[in-house]
Amino acid sequence: MNIKGTTRVCGLTGNPVEHSISPLIHNTAAQLAGLDMVYVPFRVEAGDVRAAIEGAYALNVLGLNVTVPHKQAVLEVLSEVDPIAGKIGAVNTLVRTASGYKGYNTDILGLHRELEEAGISLKDNIVVILGAGGASRAITFLCAREGARKIYLLNRSRERAQELAAEVGKAFSGACVTAGGLEEAGQLAERDYLVLQTTSVGMHPNCNAALVEDPVFYQRAAAGVDIIYNPAKTRFMRHMEENGKPAFNGLKMLLYQALAAFELWHGVRLAAQDVDVIYKRMKEALQIVE
Ligand code: ATR
Repeated sequence: MNIKGTTRVCGLTGNPVEHSISPLIHNTAAQLAGLDMVYVPFRVEAGDVRAAIEGAYALNVLGLNVTVPHKQAVLEVLSEVDPIAGKIGAVNTLVRTASGYKGYNTDILGLHRELEEAGISLKDNIVVILGAGGASRAITFLCAREGARKIYLLNRSRERAQELAAEVGKAFSGACVTAGGLEEAGQLAERDYLVLQTTSVGMHPNCNAALVEDPVFYQRAAAGVDIIYNPAKTRFMRHMEENGKPAFNGLKMLLYQALAAFELWHGVRLAAQDVDVIYKRMKEALQIVE
């Protein structure tokens, strides 16, 4: 890495940031694209978000990613927010403008691109979303915006699913969102739905857990995407595949949310072979075996 007087700085704010794979993704991408940019982690305490973002702006930092626990708090410090990110109420990418940072949510752009690549369209599709937490929230808004025909939001706590369903219904008047408990999964009067698994259930080291065990649920599904990437094949994905349905993990989503931020900051779209190199390095760094 050749850091010079002209080198631009991007970085990640959050707490913790020590285990993040974002520096590897962005620095590799910059190297492959021949950009004069370095990406560094910045651990920021909860009370310091404003000072950190204003300080970064004063230091001419080009762009920032924002991770847990600052994705909501950072909204107050931005000069502008992308409309869908504003509706979700969470941003993970800040882009420098003449008047301050503009906030985006590239997590949903990452999922969108992963689905597109898998040949799965949200438009006019029936989607079953498992979970109603922070990740589910962004994904549910994406499904509503993309014109999913029906969205079922199933969660352990039914109340939480109901609250989210009501909010999405308000934000997108055409959206048809139904909330329910996880025990309803095998009883839905639908077929060929896309399942999006948005919780941490099944994540390493609890690899033998899945939110839904009812085989009927998987038999009636068309395809499934898990946001988990470690293990590479979750129990949810195994259930899908055992019933002959395609299943995808969250590693591409992680890669594509980073590349979406990269494109916003640098206006550069990486060549396909460069994307493959980064994907391979991510798998090595995360010790993912497929
Ligand atoms: P995130 O930001 O990762 O989505 P979160 O906002 O804490 O995290 O949400 C966690 C989600 O995983 C919720 O849908 C939660 O269900 P509840 O709302 O009922 O708590 C779900 N979840 C976590 N652990 C779970 C478990 N052991 N069984 C079922 N659902 C679980």
